[in-house]
Amino acid sequence: MKIVQTINELKKAVHIEKKNGKTIGLVPTMGFLHEGHLTLAEQARKENDMVIMSIFVNPLQFGPNEDFERYPRDPERDAKLAESAGVDLLFMPAVKEMYPEEPAVTLTVHKRTNALCGLSREGHFDGVATVVMKLFHMAEANRAYFGKKDAQQLAVIHGLVDSLNVPVKIVGVETVRETDGLAKSSRNVYLLPEERKKAPAIYKALQSIKTAVEAGNTNTETLKQQARLRLENETGANVEYVEILSYPELEPIKEAHGTVIAAAAVKYKHARLIDNIILTVKGRV
Ligand code: PAJ
Repeated sequence: MKIVQTINELKKAVHIEKKNGKTIGLVPTMGFLHEGHLTLAEQARKENDMVIMSIFVNPLQFGPNEDFERYPRDPERDAKLAESAGVDLLFMPAVKEMYPEEPAVTLTVHKRTNALCGLSREGHFDGVATVVMKLFHMAEANRAYFGKKDAQQLAVIHGLVDSLNVPVKIVGVETVRETDGLAKSSRNVYLLPEERKKAPAIYKALQSIKTAVEAGNTNTETLKQQARLRLENETGANVEYVEILSYPELEPIKEAHGTVIAAAAVKYKHARLIDNIILTVKGRV
């Protein structure tokens, strides 16, 4: 596996592959890799000739009171893990390399952000869209891989690619979980032992929504109230939101029909965790 820090080196490697008619799969990450990230890389490995992973903690997508400075970083361990997952080229640029000066143009996302994390993380998805667009261009990716764990991000990226006719196929990958159901996340390392024990209750509360919907209880207000109570009683965290929305549009719905997302965000002492499940509900429309 090759590791490069500059855009020029990345482009050189990409051009050689492209000239030979090879396909490129891109896996954008912020590093501190876990099995979730590695699953994206493994899928990219199966579907492309060359796999590029980027590791870049993107300052543009962090708010002033968020964890940019203390976002966990471990480049050496990451490099070993990326290689084991079949990555050919690891792109690890410095902030100055990606943003040598204040950008003259950045993207603003108009849809799918007025809900869930978009409400509390102002400008977050603009920062994500901007960096991802830059990476698509640098890597000349044929396919790019994103986790359903961040379902709102995936919806925003689909919107980006559709709105701006970006020639890349977006591939959504299932959420990878710990054996007790907790979604894998780089931020899980910040959970205190007691919090870690209780955190699987987030997924359990989301699953209880699924069970209720399957039993025919589709009123979203009732479902949300029940799930919120469960989250409050069982996670030991502050519940930021629990929502049931249409997916990928992320519009409010009174009844759960069609493809819907049930999503929650909770705040522990040092970590804000999110999780979701996407359901397709058959029946009355
Ligand atoms: P990061 O949080 O590092 O996540 C990188 C990718 O891994 C995202 O597509 C995310 O959805 C996916 N991922 C994280 N945990 C996962 C899990 N448990 N199962 C499956 N996939 C998982 O998301 C970002 O970085 C950034 O916003 C980025 C897209 C790189 C732009 O800066």
